[in-house]
Amino acid sequence: MTIHKRPFGVTREGIPVDLYLLTAAPDFKAAITNFGGIIVSLWTPDRDGNLTDIVLGFDDLRSYEEKHPYFGAIVGRYGNRIANGRFELDGKTYALVQNNGPNHLHGGTRGFDKAVWDAEPVTREDAVGLKLTHTSPDGDEGYPGALRTTVTYWLTNVRVLEIEYEAVTDAPTHVNLTNHSYFNLRGHDAGDILGHEMTLVADHFTPVNDTLIPTGELRPVADTPFDFRGGALIGARIGEDDEQLRFGIGYDHNFVLDPEARGEFKRAARVHEPQTGRVLEAWTTEPGVQFYCGNFLDSTNIGKGGAVYHHRNGFCLETQHFPDTPNQPSFPSTVLRPGQTYRTKTHYRFLTD
Ligand code: GLA
Repeated sequence: MTIHKRPFGVTREGIPVDLYLLTAAPDFKAAITNFGGIIVSLWTPDRDGNLTDIVLGFDDLRSYEEKHPYFGAIVGRYGNRIANGRFELDGKTYALVQNNGPNHLHGGTRGFDKAVWDAEPVTREDAVGLKLTHTSPDGDEGYPGALRTTVTYWLTNVRVLEIEYEAVTDAPTHVNLTNHSYFNLRGHDAGDILGHEMTLVADHFTPVNDTLIPTGELRPVADTPFDFRGGALIGARIGEDDEQLRFGIGYDHNFVLDPEARGEFKRAARVHEPQTGRVLEAWTTEPGVQFYCGNFLDSTNIGKGGAVYHHRNGFCLETQHFPDTPNQPSFPSTVLRPGQTYRTKTHYRFLTD
């Protein structure tokens, strides 16, 4: 197991950033930068042992500094949308940056995906990792409270990518951290993901309005194109005439994980790619997962090795609290108060069939 660090460039503000190559096993490696805590590459084996980079991303820092759809990044302070960029907390109204139509998305125009994190390589008997810390000042993108955040990535020798999130604040605020990796289990440059077989361990999802804000309803997935409980090809029902699929331009929805197991570590998803035999399982302590299938990818992003990322060339499983929770009293709370510690974890396990 090794960790190698090399320079990844200098930001426009003149801050040098690094790329860390973490090797946990001969067949399990990742490249992670402290710019945005971005997972740049992740190599896993297919059923014959061939290693392929299975996450979308760029070769250079500059592309990550430009507007891009959060490839591989840590998303914060709030993953997903907050309606009209507003919430009320303890009787005070806060106005956030509105960067997605009328709404606030993924922490604003300069969210955690654009921050330069302090990085410390870490090791464990069975894993190598990177501990990233970042303090978001009071008022950052409109959020109250200075938020001190730690995200630790671990790559284990049994091919698990573990992500641990922690945060503390000095004033009441809202927090919802996630990672926005786009996976393609055939390879980052291998075309669309519609032939991946998706299983989501969710009886309900949160339907949205036409700006992708939840209506508040927890709708049963039964008898809808959102029923992935028994496993289904991502592409099988994506073209059906369904209002929710129209609003999302496909799947871009939060699925409700077992409410009985709230806070417990549980399996959220399993994805099987039949050609290569790669399997990805997502496990989390979070109450929800946003299944997004790259509907907004439009060939404008030129990625690693010149790969062009077209419509639906990657999918995300963003483990999270539900979208717009600060304005939805019936959803599990995202409030963090001084003295409390925000703590969640998500594991992505890589197997073969
Ligand atoms: C999330 C959102 C999508 C889109 C992507 C980034 O997954 O839910 O609507 O904004 O991020 O392009």
